[in-house]
Amino acid sequence: MKDYKRYLITSALPYANGAVHIGHLAGVYVPADIYVRYLRMCGKDVIFIGGSDEHGVPITIKAKQLGCSPQDVVDKYHTLIKDSFEEFGISFDVYSRTSSKTHHRIAADFFKKLYEEGKFIEKVTEQYYDEASKQFLADRYIVGTCPKCGAEGAYGDQCEKCGSTLSPEELINPHSAISGSTPVKRETKHWYLPLDQYEPWLKEWILEGHKEWKVNVYGQCKSWIDGGLQPRAVSRDLDWGVPVPVEGADGKVLYVWFDAPIGYISNTVELLPDTWEQWWKDEDTKMVHFIGKDNIVFHCIVFPSMLKAHGDYILPENVPANEFLNLEGDKISTSRNWAIWLHEYLREFPDQQDVLRYALCANAPETKDNDFTWKDFQARNNSELVAIFGNFVNRAVVLTHKYFNGVVPQDLKPEPIDAETLAAIPAIKEAIADNLEHYKFREALRNAMNLARLGNKYLTDTEPWKIAKTDMDRVASILKVSLRICADLAVAFAPFLPFSAEKLRRIMNLSSEALPWEAFCDENLLPSGHQLNPAELLFAKIEDSVIDAQIAKLEAIRQANEAKKAAEEAPQQKVAPQKESCSFDDFLKMDIRTATVLEAERVPKTDKLLKLTIDTGIDTRTIVSGIAEYYKPEEMIGKQICILANLEPRKIKGIESKGMILMAKEENGKMRIVTPEEKLGNGAQVG
Ligand code: MF3
Ligand code: ZN
Repeated sequence: MKDYKRYLITSALPYANGAVHIGHLAGVYVPADIYVRYLRMCGKDVIFIGGSDEHGVPITIKAKQLGCSPQDVVDKYHTLIKDSFEEFGISFDVYSRTSSKTHHRIAADFFKKLYEEGKFIEKVTEQYYDEASKQFLADRYIVGTCPKCGAEGAYGDQCEKCGSTLSPEELINPHSAISGSTPVKRETKHWYLPLDQYEPWLKEWILEGHKEWKVNVYGQCKSWIDGGLQPRAVSRDLDWGVPVPVEGADGKVLYVWFDAPIGYISNTVELLPDTWEQWWKDEDTKMVHFIGKDNIVFHCIVFPSMLKAHGDYILPENVPANEFLNLEGDKISTSRNWAIWLHEYLREFPDQQDVLRYALCANAPETKDNDFTWKDFQARNNSELVAIFGNFVNRAVVLTHKYFNGVVPQDLKPEPIDAETLAAIPAIKEAIADNLEHYKFREALRNAMNLARLGNKYLTDTEPWKIAKTDMDRVASILKVSLRICADLAVAFAPFLPFSAEKLRRIMNLSSEALPWEAFCDENLLPSGHQLNPAELLFAKIEDSVIDAQIAKLEAIRQANEAKKAAEEAPQQKVAPQKESCSFDDFLKMDIRTATVLEAERVPKTDKLLKLTIDTGIDTRTIVSGIAEYYKPEEMIGKQICILANLEPRKIKGIESKGMILMAKEENGKMRIVTPEEKLGNGAQVG
C-alpha cells in the first residue's frame, strides 16, 4: 500500500435539525474514529474533520414549526450533536459548522471561481412558487393526490403510499405544504453543474481506477454513471444558506449539497489556517470520506466533479460508505422517533460509551443493512466484554496482586504452552491492521476479541491458582505471559474502545496516552519488576431488567406510532352536519338521568321496538324504544342507560312511553346506548 505523507479523514456533516442516533454512530462516526485512532497510533500525520451541515430547506421548515429562526435551530442542534460526539470519544480535530463566516467565504469563493471560469450552465426554468409564503417550493414541499394510487398527501418527489417517484407536475390538486395554498408556476434562473461533461472522466477515475472500492459503493457509482448523468442545479431560491456570490442573484443561495462538502475544506481552514492547502492540494495526502449509503452519489460523483472543475484539489482515495442500521427490525426514523438517541443513551447508560461502540462495531452494517437489538447489545456486553475481555484482565491482575504484590514477575519456569500462546499474537496484530486498512472494522474487532479469547483460554488451561501452593515459579511465568497479553490488549482495543483501553493502561500503570501500534507484541513494554495499579473492573454486567426497560420503551413508541397510523388510515367517518344552536336555557329544560333496565321484551308485530321497564330513581316506568335491531331484549336487562326523563309521554303501538333512551348513532347506522363510564345510582342528573 502506498505510504502517504498525510491522511485527511472526513466524516459526513450531520444535518443540524435533529439529534444524532445509533445509526449515525454505527454507519459513519465509529468506523471513522477507529480508523483515525489507528492511523494516529501508527504515527501518521492525520486530521479528522467533522462539523454540522446547517443549511437546507428542512432547517427552515423546522424553524417555522418552532417559531424561531433557522440560526436558533442550528445553534441548538449543533451543540447537542457536538457534545454527543465528544462524549462518545469521536476524536475530531475540528468540529465546526457550515453557518460559520469562514465557511460562507470559502464556499462563495469556490462557487465564484467555477462561475468565472464558465464551469456552470445557466438555465431559466419554471418552478412552483407559493404566493402566500412568498417562496419557491422544493419538490418535497408540494403535496397532493398521487396520480398512480390516488393516495392523499403524496409529495412532489415521491408517493410514500405506493412508492412511485413523482414530479410535482404529476400531482393532482397540488398545494404547498407550507401555506396550504395552490402554488403557481414562475420562472427562475439557476446555475447547473454539467455532470454529463464529467461522465467520461468519472468512468475512468472510478470504474477503471477504483475497482477496489467497496462493492456497495462501486455498484452505486456504476449504476449512476451507466444511467447517464444530467446537469445538476447548484443554487436554490431560498433565504437560508450561502448567498450566490453573483450580481443579480438576490434571494438565491447555494444548494445545500453544493456547500456542505465544501465544509470539509472550510473546517480544515479553521483548524489549520496557514497550512490547510498542503492537506487539500498535495497528491501526497490520502483523503477518505466516511459516509452512509444515502450520501454516495454526492461524495463519489458530485463533489469530485466539483473538485475536478475547480482544478486545484485532490480527490478522495476511498469512500468506504456503510449501509443502514435498523432498530429492532424497523428502519430508524426520526419522524417516528424510532431511534436510540445518543444523548439519551448517555443519560441512561452513564460511562458505558464503549459498550455501545463495541456493539455497533461488532454489528456494523458494512456490507448490508443490519439490525440493532437490545438483546444483542446485552449479549455483546455480558458474554464478550465482561465474560472474555474483562474477565481475563481481571484474573491476571488480581492474581498478580495476590501472589506478587502487583509486581510483574519474572519468567522463571517457561513451558511450551507459553511460547505457543505468545506465538499466536503477531498474526492477530497483522490481521487487525490489515482489516483496519481495508475498512473491515467488524472483522478487525473480532480479531482483537480473539486476542482476549486467547488470554482467557491460556489462563483456564494453565490454572495458576491451583499450583500457587506448590510451584510459585511456574505461577510467575504464567502471570508474566498473561500480563503481556493484557498489555497487548491495551494496544489492540485502543482504536475501538478508547475509554476501556485507557482504563486498562491505568491498571497496567502504562502511559495515559494511547500507545503506539508498535508497542503491540513489544516484550519490553511490561518489564519484570514493573508495578501494576490496583485492579478495576473494565466492564459491568447489564441486567435483564435494564434491557427489558429499554425494550418496553421502544414498544410504547411502536404502539403510539401504530395508533397514529391507524387513525390516519381510518376511513373518514361521515358525520351529520351540526344542528342549529340552542340556548343554554333550552338545554337546561331537558331532564336527563341515569336509569337501569329492569325488564325488556319485543313489542309484538314490530321489528324495531322494545318495551322496557325502567328504574329511573324517580319511579318505575315504561319506555318504548327503537333499538331492537341493535340489542336483544336479554342484552338490555340490567344495563345502566341514560334517559331523557321529561319527554312528553307518547303512545307507541298502543303502549304509553314515558321518556327516551339516549343512543349514539353513526351516519353509517351503527348504534350504541350511552351509559356512564362507571356505574352510578339511578336518577343521577346528566348535564
Ligand atoms: N447532512 C448530510 C446528511 O446528513 C451529509 C452531508 S455530508 C457533506 O445526509 F459532505 F455534505 F458535508
Ligand atoms: Zn401513490
